[in-house]
Amino acid sequence: MLEVTGLNFHYGNVQALYDISMSMPSGQITCVMGRNGVGKTTLLKNIMGVESSTTGRVAVDGADVAALPANKRARSGLALVPQGRMIFPKLSVMENMKVGLSARTDGVKTVPTDVMDLFPILKTFANRNGGDLSGGQQQQLAIARALCGNPKVLLLDEPTEGIQPNVIQMIGEVLQMLAKTRNMTIVLVEQYLDFVREITQNFYVLNRGRVVAAGPTAELSEDVVTQHLKV
Ligand SMILES: Nc1ncnc2c1ncn2[C@@H]1O[C@H](COP(=O)(O)OP(=O)(O)OP(=O)(O)O)[C@@H](O)[C@H]1O
Ligand SMILES: [Mg+2]
Repeated sequence: MLEVTGLNFHYGNVQALYDISMSMPSGQITCVMGRNGVGKTTLLKNIMGVESSTTGRVAVDGADVAALPANKRARSGLALVPQGRMIFPKLSVMENMKVGLSARTDGVKTVPTDVMDLFPILKTFANRNGGDLSGGQQQQLAIARALCGNPKVLLLDEPTEGIQPNVIQMIGEVLQMLAKTRNMTIVLVEQYLDFVREITQNFYVLNRGRVVAAGPTAELSEDVVTQHLKV
């Protein structure tokens, strides 16, 4: 599981996150929601260590990783699928996936077949440049690259952004399967409410860098949606 306790973060002298505490259980999908600019990406970057918080604890299965840089946090079991996918456009699909292997601690040097099996399109286009894939295909590649590190905690930043419905559906099925069969902790930043209600068990809502609502997704009220999510 993933636990964040008392996390504050500043960009220069502007505070972006205020005293964030969250608990994300393994085997479940937890959603982080909120309008544009409230701090969702900043939160995931702080969990991953791409940005480093000034205060607070980030613990994976009880081990505090807050002092570690991103590459060491990756080796402790964290993986981030970044907003905008961040595929290497000039590397092939296979080479993009191999980048993810560097987070492994077991010395495996080839892309695991079970990762390939999740996304058949990546097998078909293994030698194509990452930059030549469609948005939906790149999103699958970004998830596959993260899975190549064999993470315990998978962080996804708006994976449905600009993706067509059948690929969204497929990604949803993969995430549910990973939570269930691999007991993974999945943290999903998402603004697409139907998708959230369909696949997540828990939610947190951010507003202006603060947690303003949280609970089981089944109890996410229209009140919270109107107040903090609708634009
Ligand atoms: N590198 C940066 N330097 C300074 N301020 C930043 C930086 N990145 C983000 N911010 C600011 O921090 C706040 C939170 O941004 P963040 O990207 O985390 O929001 P978000 O909830 O992910 O938004 P979106 O839904 O648009 O992706 C915003 O006010 C943003 O302008
Ligand atoms: Mg964002």
